[in-house]
Amino acid sequence: MHIKRLGIVGCGLMGSGIAEISAKAGYDVVVVEVTEEFLKKGISRIEASTQKAVDKGKSTAEERAKALGRIKGSTNMDDLKGCQMVIEAVVEKMDEKKRVFGILDTICPPETILASNTSSLSITEIACSTKNPERVLGLHFFSPVPVMRLLEVIRSIMVRDDVVEAGVAFGAAVGKETVVCKDAPGFIVNQLYLPYSLVAIRQWERGLASKEDIDKAMTLGLNYPMGPFTLMDFVGLDIHYNACMAIYEETKDPAYFPPPVLKKMIQAGHLGRKTGKGFYDYPSK
Ligand code: CAA
Repeated sequence: MHIKRLGIVGCGLMGSGIAEISAKAGYDVVVVEVTEEFLKKGISRIEASTQKAVDKGKSTAEERAKALGRIKGSTNMDDLKGCQMVIEAVVEKMDEKKRVFGILDTICPPETILASNTSSLSITEIACSTKNPERVLGLHFFSPVPVMRLLEVIRSIMVRDDVVEAGVAFGAAVGKETVVCKDAPGFIVNQLYLPYSLVAIRQWERGLASKEDIDKAMTLGLNYPMGPFTLMDFVGLDIHYNACMAIYEETKDPAYFPPPVLKKMIQAGHLGRKTGKGFYDYPSK
């Protein structure tokens, strides 16, 4: 399967990162957002990130200009018609994912591969909202997408082998290492990471240690680049909570049930770095 034109639905943190690495790898990218305002914000994020890559010596100004020239923004899903693969990166809500896949199923010809960047929802359930579930797979990227080296390729029980192979080949083409995983809640990384992060909150709540010392312990003791509280703030507490709840609802495994303090912080608007306050304060926001 030759992929030349790639579609992306959603130009938030993940969608813009996927657009960036794909354009850099030479794909023509069409990225669709719901409003011009969201699109502008997403494209600005790509401009800033590609500039950072130039500043850090990871690419040249010429490569940056070429990559940006390969990205077309749109607010019209019909513009995804000519894509050989479309990656959905919208909000982590099953109803919204199904709505998007329902539209993609009618717009894109049956040979177009459809992928979801979900971190916690069932690929099988998403695939079932289309008439051709065998062309649907999961491609789970990690944030920040231009920097993180892993791509989880998720196979539902219906997906065709050549679709999974195309997902793996796409990962290699955009410079990622891939792992192939069955469609099970949380896949590989979040099955390990989410319970760990919730244990950290419980340790802090029962006074085992300060959050600063728990973070320090994990960065210095295990060489993790960020401790759990810093990482939850980085990802966004709302995103973190939704991922935990999605897996909890599917499995009823208490390891994924978020301590109530997490919900309270979200209700208070303390979502982490993006709002200037989470477990830590980020005064510049
Ligand atoms: N484009 C290309 N390269 C870039 C870049 C960009 N926009 N921005 C930074 N880089 C490169 C830098 O040049 C640097 O490369 P070298 O190591 O070769 O020098 C590297 O990326 C690190 O960048 P920085 O020095 O700017 O930043 P840092 O050292 O402070 O690291 C971090 C920042 C990469 C975020 C690091 O702290 C980290 O890895 N944190 C953990 C992130 C993580 O765990 N993410 C997963 C979250 S979970 C998720 O996403 C999935 C989910 O389902 C919720």
